[in-house]
Amino acid sequence: MLYGHFDDDRREYVVTRPDTPLPWINYLGTEDFFGMISNTAGGCSFYRDARLRRLTRYRHNNAPLDLGGRYLYLRDDVDGDYWSPSWQPTRSALDSYECRHGLSYTSISSERKGIRADLLCYVPLGETLEVWRLTVSNDRERRADLSLFSCVEFCLWDALDDATNFQRNYNVGEVEVADGVIYHKTEYRERRDHFAYFACSEPLAGFDTQRDVFLGPYRGWDSPLAVERGCSFDSIATGWAPMGSHHVRLSLATSETREIIFVLGYSENPAAEKFDPPGSQTIDKTRVRPVIERWLMPSEFDRGLRVLRESWDELLSVLKVETPDPDTDRMVNIWNQYQCMATFNLSRSMSFYESGIGRGMGFRDSSQDLFGCLPMVPDRARQRILDLAATQLDSGGAYHQYQPLTKRGNDQIGSGFNDDPLWLVLAVSAYLKETGDLGILDELVPYDNAPGTESPISEHLERCVRYTLDRLGPHGLPLIGHADWNDCLNLNCFSEIPGESFQTADNREGGVAESLFIAGQFVLACQELAAVARLLGNSDRAASLEADAMAMAGTVEDHGWDGEWFLRAYDSFGEVVGSHANAEGKIFVETQGICVMAGIGVADGRAAAALKSVRELLATEHGIMLMSPPFTRYHLELGEITSYPPGYKENGSIFCHTNPWIMIAETILGDGETAFDYYKRTNPSARAAISDVHRCEPYVYVQTIAGRDAATFGEAKNSWLTGSAAWHLTAITQWILGIRPELEGLRIDPVLPPAWSGFTAQRRWRGATYEISVQQEKGSSGRVRWLEVDGTRVEGNLLLPAPAGSTVKVVATVEPA
Ligand code: BGC
Ligand code: NOJ
Repeated sequence: MLYGHFDDDRREYVVTRPDTPLPWINYLGTEDFFGMISNTAGGCSFYRDARLRRLTRYRHNNAPLDLGGRYLYLRDDVDGDYWSPSWQPTRSALDSYECRHGLSYTSISSERKGIRADLLCYVPLGETLEVWRLTVSNDRERRADLSLFSCVEFCLWDALDDATNFQRNYNVGEVEVADGVIYHKTEYRERRDHFAYFACSEPLAGFDTQRDVFLGPYRGWDSPLAVERGCSFDSIATGWAPMGSHHVRLSLATSETREIIFVLGYSENPAAEKFDPPGSQTIDKTRVRPVIERWLMPSEFDRGLRVLRESWDELLSVLKVETPDPDTDRMVNIWNQYQCMATFNLSRSMSFYESGIGRGMGFRDSSQDLFGCLPMVPDRARQRILDLAATQLDSGGAYHQYQPLTKRGNDQIGSGFNDDPLWLVLAVSAYLKETGDLGILDELVPYDNAPGTESPISEHLERCVRYTLDRLGPHGLPLIGHADWNDCLNLNCFSEIPGESFQTADNREGGVAESLFIAGQFVLACQELAAVARLLGNSDRAASLEADAMAMAGTVEDHGWDGEWFLRAYDSFGEVVGSHANAEGKIFVETQGICVMAGIGVADGRAAAALKSVRELLATEHGIMLMSPPFTRYHLELGEITSYPPGYKENGSIFCHTNPWIMIAETILGDGETAFDYYKRTNPSARAAISDVHRCEPYVYVQTIAGRDAATFGEAKNSWLTGSAAWHLTAITQWILGIRPELEGLRIDPVLPPAWSGFTAQRRWRGATYEISVQQEKGSSGRVRWLEVDGTRVEGNLLLPAPAGSTVKVVATVEPA
């Protein structure tokens, strides 16, 4: 069944029925204030940090699904009929329903018994608030006397504490209601200088701030007593569960339309100016009141929305393509870039699958997310690199995660994921290729945020590669530590304690497990750093990095080749992992991808053999599985990977993050047909027709699709916050379409499916705009060997940087090999 369709012109996905297989989510906000919003208005909001500054409650893993949100109730005051215009939480029948998820805004429109309601929500740029506009129209042939109730449930700031520490939290909640604005100020009396507010543009008939009064005893959000009886209680919360609800009466003549605006926001006061009058316990509202007044104005709502739209126009103008394939175009031009911004902003913190509590900003995740958003926000990417580098340790290792609010490394999760530092090298190199800003290498950044330890980024990167060389195992391969990219390959963990986190459990002393993945990643990172050293004229350093890369590649060839594919690892006993000799887990995708991307085995046929093995043993119609066959029982010596049932997550699902590595590897070997075929298999837009199988949103990539051995083969999970976003964008734009920033220039090196006759693209790079037309004789395949640049033939396929502001017209012809 189809649950909606794309509206490419408006850059929206239109959900046409509310009961999607899973909540289909969107995000509001791109800077400091964020909201998650589902197609039925479920979700929550937070300021900067989904754990530490949560404004509103959301119930992950609730039944029914997706409860807690920006809820409105409409009530016919004549017959008492009430409903939610966004369907949830009352789930009353609607005569029409449509949700449009756009770029950082969502609208939900519906009709019931002649009353039309259109809700539109977004976060204005530069503000720490969200605005909702509800337009209510009376299409009846008689006057409609309605009540409108709004409602949000406040979170007591720290989402983990809020969900666990009830003996305290049922006693601390405090609010103020002044001039129709509901202020949530729990803990403001003591150490917090911030509060939330919820305002409405209309005069109020009443309000509620105590959840259980609003709902009534033992009632749920689907039948609040205040709504049922048509009158608020004017409750003031002390303790229990503070909420915000406005009651507005609307009397609409036939065809009359009214606009009501709500503002939900976050505000801080300087510590010395918290209270008004000083000495009282009343919030000083001098700063916040003008902000509220301004955003309650319909003209500001329209202006803010326009500014938001223009900002997305600008961001997406950096990269546009027109190919023969509509699924490619809409993902590249709209949704994949949009998702990359979401992963850049939120890392793995808040989604329908991420609680916002356990997984803040990952070092490895955030480094890779940069690949996707660099062209759009190079300056913010630069700052992110500096923030990440400041959580590096002086050993060269890194905190595995940091908290966005404090930017400090997260002690609970600690360090010791031995791939982490190498991702920083790859991120910085991608940044340099995009921007040419070599100055970042001289930026002084501390280790572990400790003042006095500042050293240039170039030194940080040196320590990243040294970290690997300082930790080699019995075969001369990198030690894996807690895990490498595959967090669930915990080869030194040996966990026997029920419920112990595999991620943080102490490793067995002297763990000697080695990772072929880190080996390949090291080769790649050394090559990238060597290229930077050459560009800087440091040929000695370049040569020694190249020698390190060569030596490691040699070690991989000697100890990492299984005959038809690359091995995955050596476990703590020196036994092979990912070998034909293993009964299960014979072949893993990660090493086939990373080793070929690092060029290992490309010259001697091993790369081709590895990719053939991937095609034969791992590729399915839904994408490429992470490994095969999956483990059917728990292996103490392998860790979390064997904790999942076969076919799920790391244990043999189609772990989408890794699929682009194989697409890239295929292009390196020149097979555009296979690369693009793989690209289409995981493309969410191309999977829209099988939404009943796929179940997740058809507009964003997911982390996993259940593998062939799973009970639900083809079922997607964990959409939105995944490295799949940045890597798919990289694979399609830089390797298949082949528009690839390098240190010296913009490479035009498409490797296309033979059925294509070419494509066009517009790419802004280092200030100039390149209008690129690639032509290919249908049915042939090959590479571009010369370019026509503004009408002049240039040998090779590298465009040198053009002056900022200029437009360069490029024609590239793919020549059969
Ligand atoms: C998941 C991994 C994730 C890890 C760290 C595991 O439970 O399966 O995908 O990387 O947790 O958060
Ligand atoms: C998700 C994690 O966020 C990422 O860091 C990791 O590489 C993959 N899972 C694979 O385990």
